[in-house]
Amino acid sequence: MRANAFHWFISYNSGSRIAVDSALTQHSFPVTRIDRSRIDIVDFDNLGFEDDFSDHMFRCEFRDGQWIEPQIVPYGAFQIYPGALCLHYGQAVFEGLKAFRGIDGNIRVFRPDMNAERLRNSCERLCIPPVDEELFCSAIDELVGLDEKWIPSKRGESLYVRPLIFATEPNLQVKAADRYLFLIITSPVKEYFSERTGGISLRAEPRYTRAAPGGTGFAKTGGNYAGTLRPGEDSIAQGFDQTLWLDGLEHLYVEEVGQMNIFFRIGDTFVTPPLQGTILPGVTRNSVLTLLKDRGEKCEERRIRIEEIIEAHHNGSLTEVFGAGTAAVITPVGRIAYQDEVIDLDADAPELMSKRLYDGIVDIQTGAVEDVHGWNRVVTSSDGAAASAKVV
Ligand code: COI
Repeated sequence: MRANAFHWFISYNSGSRIAVDSALTQHSFPVTRIDRSRIDIVDFDNLGFEDDFSDHMFRCEFRDGQWIEPQIVPYGAFQIYPGALCLHYGQAVFEGLKAFRGIDGNIRVFRPDMNAERLRNSCERLCIPPVDEELFCSAIDELVGLDEKWIPSKRGESLYVRPLIFATEPNLQVKAADRYLFLIITSPVKEYFSERTGGISLRAEPRYTRAAPGGTGFAKTGGNYAGTLRPGEDSIAQGFDQTLWLDGLEHLYVEEVGQMNIFFRIGDTFVTPPLQGTILPGVTRNSVLTLLKDRGEKCEERRIRIEEIIEAHHNGSLTEVFGAGTAAVITPVGRIAYQDEVIDLDADAPELMSKRLYDGIVDIQTGAVEDVHGWNRVVTSSDGAAASAKVV
């Protein structure tokens, strides 16, 4: 029983973070367990990426300048004031990462340190007090270990981990709140675009903008996604799966697909847009670049005009396009439309690099190959009751 092991808090003071009780080497949190698991109502043979949430969630509050009272409680609704600042002015950030059941039975969380860093950067942009990486990772270890039965074991499936922080102070002023809630929920999922055969189709958006220089495009904040819904509906109405975002200034350069980053194979080079503040710094994007370089492939992070893609298609040098994201993993693209131009690609060809990259990433995530970059955080669980993490 861990109910007394409640010592963990972080104080936040003018931008500095101090682990007050650093004597604890293995962090653990009070746990209030559910009376009865809901796992039996989940159809694990037909997982989606939607609304199956596991039994427990992590919660921690920010009050009086400190992150306090970290704990694990049953997943469920909670109260919030109608005046809460997140509901009005959107002061909220989130993350997305995955835990896997390895082929050796171990639980692996993929690159949580990168998500912790990105969350810190998102918090900084939205004036939210940051959460320490140690708290972030320990909370995920404990939660995933406790709900380990919810981790699916089929290839391509995982327990999606969704951390989120939002402003709870009720106030009508447009200002940074003085109270927040940090939650982590989890959901058994399969890949985001797993239903699509022949690759997904993208419509390059010539009018609407996802992000502009100096904005919040690099931060994982809900507003970035809310603004894509209207044009996203237009893409679907025109027969496409997703919107391919162009730059916000001229609508000439490719940026990202709202749910993932984008890669093009032009000639012998893999090209992806650079991280210049308007696109999400994807963890899978980073992993793909590393794996491509490991294979000796040529990679370029540079601005790419949509016209260059069309021209490469016409002269035959565009051979492959794929998206990379935590939810999407590696998703081949079969069609891109920009105004009157339509590019069709064979997204099922066996020699595609996207297939090798998919296997390369999933093999690391599931422990099928050696994790030479040290990306996995292995969570060992005892009897489903608790977990402690070691990095192997
Ligand atoms: C993720 O890939 O984790 C994301 O957050 C994308 C999401 C909007 C499905």
